[in-house]
Parts: sequence; structure tokens; C-alpha cells
Amino acid sequence: MVAQDRHGVKSIDLGIFSPTARDELLCLQVRLDPEDCAYDYSKLYFSTAPDEAYAEERVICFRVRARNAFEQVGLPLPPRCLQTGFLRMRLDGLPYSAGTTSVEAVKLLEARPDDELTRHARLVGQKEWVRKEVERSEGERRTRLGHYPESLSLELTPRCNLTCSHCSSHGTGEVHQLNNRRKELDLGMLERLAHEVFPHLTLLTLVGRGEPTMVSDRLWARLTELLEYYRVFLSCVTNGYFIRRRIDAAVLALIDTLTISIDGVTADIFAANRGGASLDRVLANVAYFHDLRSKAALARRPKLGLSWTLKRNNIAEFPDFVRLAKRFDPDFLYVRHLLVFHEKDRGQSLLGHADLANRYLGEAYAMLRGSRIKLDVPPLMSR
Ligand SMILES: C[S@@+](CC[C@H](N)C(=O)[O-])C[C@H]1O[C@@H](n2cnc3c(N)ncnc32)[C@H](O)[C@@H]1O
Ligand code: SF4
Repeated sequence: MVAQDRHGVKSIDLGIFSPTARDELLCLQVRLDPEDCAYDYSKLYFSTAPDEAYAEERVICFRVRARNAFEQVGLPLPPRCLQTGFLRMRLDGLPYSAGTTSVEAVKLLEARPDDELTRHARLVGQKEWVRKEVERSEGERRTRLGHYPESLSLELTPRCNLTCSHCSSHGTGEVHQLNNRRKELDLGMLERLAHEVFPHLTLLTLVGRGEPTMVSDRLWARLTELLEYYRVFLSCVTNGYFIRRRIDAAVLALIDTLTISIDGVTADIFAANRGGASLDRVLANVAYFHDLRSKAALARRPKLGLSWTLKRNNIAEFPDFVRLAKRFDPDFLYVRHLLVFHEKDRGQSLLGHADLANRYLGEAYAMLRGSRIKLDVPPLMSR
């Protein structure tokens, strides 16, 4: 069977099937040719009775990895179709973006032990179930949960190579040394956590007191192997120093979002705010990541975020930060006012300097009006 949508026609009718009790998964040969960078996931609508209409409650969401190439995708069969013996399906490959979807073959299959397609189909089913349970738990404000979370935040290490003056965990010699004496996450702990929780997760976010990419090669390699095995996406905020060492084409496919902290667009201000670090090195690494994600044969382009902490010493550079950011087509900008953790930084707070802050915030926000860049930024300050 070959079906192809045309521009503006989003849905491909996959036909009607008669599943038997032995069937467990659906195998699709699907190809996405997105025209922009907006693809996030595909939607398979199903109905399990002739008079049942397609509806948002009867959707399996899944991600196609490859761009412009046929990919075999394993999906779970809706359990009810095994009772009714009826399954009708429609595929919206690019539901929220432009491009073409093609389907070459659709098959119902029995589960096969030790088969990767079966394992992937079960993972998609488990993650879909968790996602729907999370929605229900939030809607009903449940206090006891019968499911794992869909996303998890994890600190791999409290250590950091930099000493940004305003950082709560590395901003003084004392806390820097204290945190750099601490150990990274134990490999055994990672194994136990991953085997228990990763099968349920959609997203793992690396957070915490340190620089998440400044871990041993063993820990990073095992983490990325486990994420790949359990099909979990990775999100990470980084100082940008070790991007080349940590992100290659294979790891790129796992990245949901990489957010890189900047805090200065001249070498002096950047170094003052980022513990003497090199702006050139970080910008070269931002360019490396942007180039890698732009050229990758991935249907879903990994997202790039740029982060900026607003301070008195960098507020005048903020409009130039926006100009610089645009070179890398970021998906979002994450901007926060300085939180004062150490008395020595109090003079860098913009509290009490609304006119100064608003002059530059206003100029920068005006440049972003109408742009596709999402903004997670503070409003203008009140006087
Ligand atoms: C603690 S860092 C950890 C990740 C990584 N090391 C980095 O710098 O991106 C997370 C974020 O918090 C920001 N941050 C650190 N100290 C801050 C402060 N005092 N006020 C506001 N943001 C701060 C950093 O600029 C960074 O974007
Ligand atoms: S790079 Fe991140 S963790 Fe390291 S000192 Fe700077 S803000 Fe803190």
C-alpha cells in the first residue's frame, strides 16, 4: 500500500483491519519530509468499531526519527480492537507543520520475543499510558499516583569547571571547592534508576548544582546508551564548554533541548559573569551544535535555547544578545533576573534600576516581536 498526503492535506487513511487475538503490534513503514523545523510528533487516530468516530481520546502519539527516508515504526494495538475485531486508522504524520507524509506498508503483527520492533511498540504503549494518566492525575488533583512520572530531573554532578560569580554553588572559592570535592552520580545508581523509571519516561532533564556535561566519559556514555535503549529524550542546561565532546550525531538524536548560558556578548563581560570563561569557545560550540542539528537527517530538529541572567553589568548588552542569538535560529530565549545568593553580587541586581533595565529590555523585546523564537522572559520592570 502506498499513500501520500499532499500539501495542506494532513491525514492519510490507513484503511480497515480485522485484528485477531494473537496480534499485538502495528508495523508502519512511514516517511516524513518536513518543510520546516516545527515537527514534534505524529498522531495515529484509531476507531475500534464501525460507528466510532476519530477523536483525541483515541490517538497514539509517536515520533518518527528519520527525515526524508522510510522508517519502520512499531506501535501498540489498542486493546479494545482485539475484542471488537475491528480497527480503522488514520495517520497525521505532520499534524502541526508543513511537509509530506508517505506510508508504504501497514501490518498487524504478533509479538516476537527479543524483537526490537516489539520492544519499541511496548515502550510507546507504556509512555502513552503514563502520559494519559499524568493528564488525568493533574485534572483530578490526585494525591496518590498509580503511575511513574513522564519526565524526571536528575543531577549528574555538583561539580563545575567554571566559577560564575553569581552562582549559588560555585560563586565563591569555598562553595566551588566544596562542590567539586563531591562525587558524580554513581553508575550503579544510574543503572537501577534507569531500568526502573526510564521505560515510563518521555523526557530526562539534567539539572542541579553543577555542569551536567562535566562528568566522566563512562557515566555520559552509559547514560546516553540507556536513554537510547529506553527511547527517552534529553534536555540539558549547560555552560557550553564540553558540547563537542558530549554531542555527536548519535547523541543528537536523543536531544530534546540544549540550553546554553551566555550572560555576556563581549569577551570582558562574558568572562566577568562566567568565571573567566572564553566567549569565543562557547560561541564556537553553539555554532557547532546549530550546524549539527541543521544538517542532521532527523525529522525533529533538536531545540536550541539560549539563557541570559540579567545584571547591571550586562543589561546594556542585552539587545546585542538578541542580535547574536538570531544567528543561531534558537527555538527559545530563557531570561531571568539575577538572584542574589552572595552579598558580593548585590550591586549587580537591577532592583531599583527599572529605567535602566526597561530601556534595554524594551529595545530587545521590540526586535523579537513577530519572531518565531519563543520567549520565557520577565516583563518590563515597574518603577
Ligand atoms: C546553575 S546553572 C547549571 C547549568 C550550567 N552549569 C549552566 O551554567 O548553564 C543553571 C542556570 O542557572 C543560572 N544561574 C546561576 N546563578 C544564577 C543566579 N544567581 N541568578 C539567576 N540565574 C542564575 C545560570 O546562568 C544557568 O543558566
Ligand atoms: S557554569 Fe553553571 S554551575 Fe558552573 S558556575 Fe556557572 S552557573 Fe554555576
